[in-house]
Amino acid sequence: MAVKILGIESSCDETAAAICEAQGGKRAVLSNIVASSMDFHARFGGVIPEIASRAHLEAFAPVVKRALSSASLTLSDIDAVAVSAGPGLAGCLAVGASGAKGIALGAKKPFFALNHVIAHLAASEGEFGQIPENSAGLVVSGGHTTLFRLEKFPSRISVAGSTLDDAAGECFDKIGRLMGLPYPAGAAIDELAKKGDPFAIRVPQGLRGRRDHLFDFSFSGVKTSVARTIEEMREENMPLPVEDICASLAESVGEVLSRKAIEACRVFGSRVLVVGGGFSANSQLRGKLKAKAEEAGVELRIPSLPLCTDNGAMVSLLGADLLEGGISPSSLGAPIDSSMSLDIASL
Ligand code: KG4
Ligand code: ZN
Repeated sequence: MAVKILGIESSCDETAAAICEAQGGKRAVLSNIVASSMDFHARFGGVIPEIASRAHLEAFAPVVKRALSSASLTLSDIDAVAVSAGPGLAGCLAVGASGAKGIALGAKKPFFALNHVIAHLAASEGEFGQIPENSAGLVVSGGHTTLFRLEKFPSRISVAGSTLDDAAGECFDKIGRLMGLPYPAGAAIDELAKKGDPFAIRVPQGLRGRRDHLFDFSFSGVKTSVARTIEEMREENMPLPVEDICASLAESVGEVLSRKAIEACRVFGSRVLVVGGGFSANSQLRGKLKAKAEEAGVELRIPSLPLCTDNGAMVSLLGADLLEGGISPSSLGAPIDSSMSLDIASL
């Protein structure tokens, strides 16, 4: 029997709600509504938690209503309510989680408090179907850069490696700021990089080839190195070759991410690599992953752009996996967890 799951997301600046339908491993996204408060944060160069929480409060009800109406459904058609309960900004998570609990309680539906980072991997299921056993996963976002071994998604997963300092998205955003690009800079750097020379400037590839950190990443050295290059050019009154800097940065970061992800597939014997998170919208990374996966005979599953950045569909898809997998719903007393462990899919 087909089941429909309402998924709600509010861990950072996006208030999002979506409905997916699941039946025996098949998935269909019926609606996917996102409202962002980024315009309010851009002028501060980072997400301001208090502003984001207030924006969630205002957007929550209209976004959920639109997710239902655009799928031509009412709450009585829904089989479960899922929400991102962590990791993320505590005040933001609290708005979505409280709202989702209220809906679940009022409509008498099972409730799932889910892991936002693991939901980024479930996003791929909207287009590719369920993640097969023994896959590898890479989540690259503004807050996380993590490689996963997915023995049986989502109940048996483990972290194989992670960034030791900045996330890839964070690194792009910080360098973008130095070059005067608006926050968040990821998409702008991507566009500028298309017109530059990827080998114009030397950018380090943190922890590449390090046997003791085979699946770990480090991007703080990348940031320092590019910042120094920019500083030196400015001291010498040179015009900043912004396109070349962006291209060289994207080349270096894309190379280290794609190499380690494919290496993880080789070590785990995985035939499928699932990728997710806002940074996986990056066209240089996508190109490199595609080429390396083809060469290694690995099937690459990266969602289309709206499912890469934060959205409600990824939450409803992970909720569908848990519901269909017979995993017990969360208690309505489940807390939010702003630093939720990445080894568990639900609380
Ligand atoms: O997953 P996400 O929407 O939010 C978090 O959970 O962090 O990711 C946001 C991050 C930001 O750092 C943004 O700059 C980056 O994703 N991003 C990109 C691109 N589009 C968004 N980074 C590189 N290239 C892009 N095209
Ligand atoms: Zn995210």
